[in-house]
Amino acid sequence: MPVPLLDLTRQYAQIRDDVQREIDAVVTSQQFILGARVDAFEAEIARRIGCGHAVGMSSGTDAQLAILMALGIGPGDAVITTPYTFFATAGCIHRVGAETVFVDIDPVTYNLSPARLAEFLRGRCTQDAAGAWRTPAGNRVRLIVPVHLFGLCAEMDEIGDLAAEFGVPVMEDAAQAIGAEYPSRHGTVQAGAIAHSAYFSFFPAKNLGAYGDAGLSTCRDEAFATELKLMRNHGMEQRYYHHKVGGNFRIDALQAAILHAKLPHIGGWNAARRANAERYAAAFAAEGLLEFLTPPATPFAGRVAEHHIFHQYVLRAARRDDLVRHLAARSIGHGIYYPVPLHLQDCFAYLGYRAGDLPESERASAETIALPIFPELTTAEQDEVVAAIAEFYRA
Ligand SMILES: Cc1ncc(COP(=O)(O)O)c(C=O)c1O
Repeated sequence: MPVPLLDLTRQYAQIRDDVQREIDAVVTSQQFILGARVDAFEAEIARRIGCGHAVGMSSGTDAQLAILMALGIGPGDAVITTPYTFFATAGCIHRVGAETVFVDIDPVTYNLSPARLAEFLRGRCTQDAAGAWRTPAGNRVRLIVPVHLFGLCAEMDEIGDLAAEFGVPVMEDAAQAIGAEYPSRHGTVQAGAIAHSAYFSFFPAKNLGAYGDAGLSTCRDEAFATELKLMRNHGMEQRYYHHKVGGNFRIDALQAAILHAKLPHIGGWNAARRANAERYAAAFAAEGLLEFLTPPATPFAGRVAEHHIFHQYVLRAARRDDLVRHLAARSIGHGIYYPVPLHLQDCFAYLGYRAGDLPESERASAETIALPIFPELTTAEQDEVVAAIAEFYRA
């Protein structure tokens, strides 16, 4: 039986009436750009995340770009992030003209390693006469961008401590982590409400997916939220008067209305993904496959309920590339996130990184594979995936 990596039609079948009602209401109103439905969506998602302010954007990429622009980051600045992430995280840093600094990941969580970050900041950066910290290339460290990869929050307390020591804010890449919780030393917080600012992607395949591109920026501070609203609308408050240069990063009212209708389902969908992950882990153990496979770590399990939301279920697998061929031959859905770490992408060759510089990111790119995890995956389909993998390692 073929098993898809993701089948969005099954979700749509459950919520069709609610979504159709929202689409019809927007089209009937003919209010397509910002307006009441965008306001209502922003208020509700900010309440659910517990983040203070939420500003709807045209994509996750644009949501990040708007924050970087609102922070005034540009040439002469440096932004630190992980190379084991989707391209946009680093692409936006490049696009505002700042230096992208890649710091390696933790091999267990795949998230930005606080230990490697400390090594970079304490060991490689120097303080100038004005007290600013500068990279070896001479740029001023302005921001740290951890990614809550695959739906697991980064070690935000440790990263926040380092950020405070070096006097820079933290922006969360929460693109893959809507609804994930983090057990901070101040209590439980949701992704998107932990740091100075954050951004989400509502790309259709995300845990909360739009019917097209959409994203969200969040922040604590009201004045910064006002800046973000300016940035998404060409820096324009009063029509045709521009104090700053922004862009057209506005979320479509249609997408905001669809996302608003989907919001109440996130908890249930995320719980179903988690149940599927637990089922895989138990099955791999029962089949004696743990000498070949390392299931995703769940370091916050038992401390917060939404400890992982499994946007992707990514394992480390022995002979990964052969396993990929085996699954492809049996029409079992799978994915590689991500085959080339960003420091080795051609477009970033100018940064001067070489193979071997960030070994854990390189190893993760070479050794991991994503399996189907979407909420509507059936147990029969999961059994098929496990059986195909068992067949491969027993051969
Ligand atoms: C980690 C990460 N960052 C940024 C983005 C960019 O979001 P979008 O595709 O909505 O522009 C994505 C999603 O694709 C992502 O997974």
